[in-house]
Amino acid sequence: MANSEVDTSRRRFLIGATSVVGAVGTGTIAVPFLSSWNPSARALAAGAPVEVNVSKIEDGQLIREIWRGKPVWVVKRTEEMVKNLPSINPKLKDPNSDVESQQPAYAKNEARSRKPEYLVLVGICTHLGCSPTYRPELAPDDLGADWKGGWYCPCHGSRFDLAGRVFKGSPAGTNLVVPPYYFKTDNIILIGEDGEVA
Ligand code: FES
Repeated sequence: MANSEVDTSRRRFLIGATSVVGAVGTGTIAVPFLSSWNPSARALAAGAPVEVNVSKIEDGQLIREIWRGKPVWVVKRTEEMVKNLPSINPKLKDPNSDVESQQPAYAKNEARSRKPEYLVLVGICTHLGCSPTYRPELAPDDLGADWKGGWYCPCHGSRFDLAGRVFKGSPAGTNLVVPPYYFKTDNIILIGEDGEVA
């Protein structure tokens, strides 16, 4: 029993890690079933907003959702993760999020988010579209003593910090995309709409 639970979670991880490739692969299979979807399922596929309940996300944890067929990540950052962000600025290509296409105006701030603890990103590498791997740990052997957490793209080695900002020396040219979103309540994020822009 314990083994099957482990296998299931491992499979989930693998599905998440290869979600872009997987989405392309399953798309051709899913088409014949579209006609049997109910209207809300069709609306979701076409780009309806997606609600995410963040009340059970643990500190440092990442959860995955799908919005407009793309993987979207929600991360609950710890205070330390947020505090570390400015110290990374000199190593980044666009530390101040000056490339406007990569985030809504309300996410052009130090934490690239509406609330510092919650980061919302489209989980697609801005180089050639792979799905980067979440690496929240401090100073792992393969990423170096200066690593303060972020994402590593296994395809060509792009690195992103815990605000989705791309490191200098990465083949990716721009920061990961922050999608439109807002907090409907303290614990519910709606991804896909700007809501009331503060
Ligand atoms: S697709 Fe991510 S580094 Fe090339």
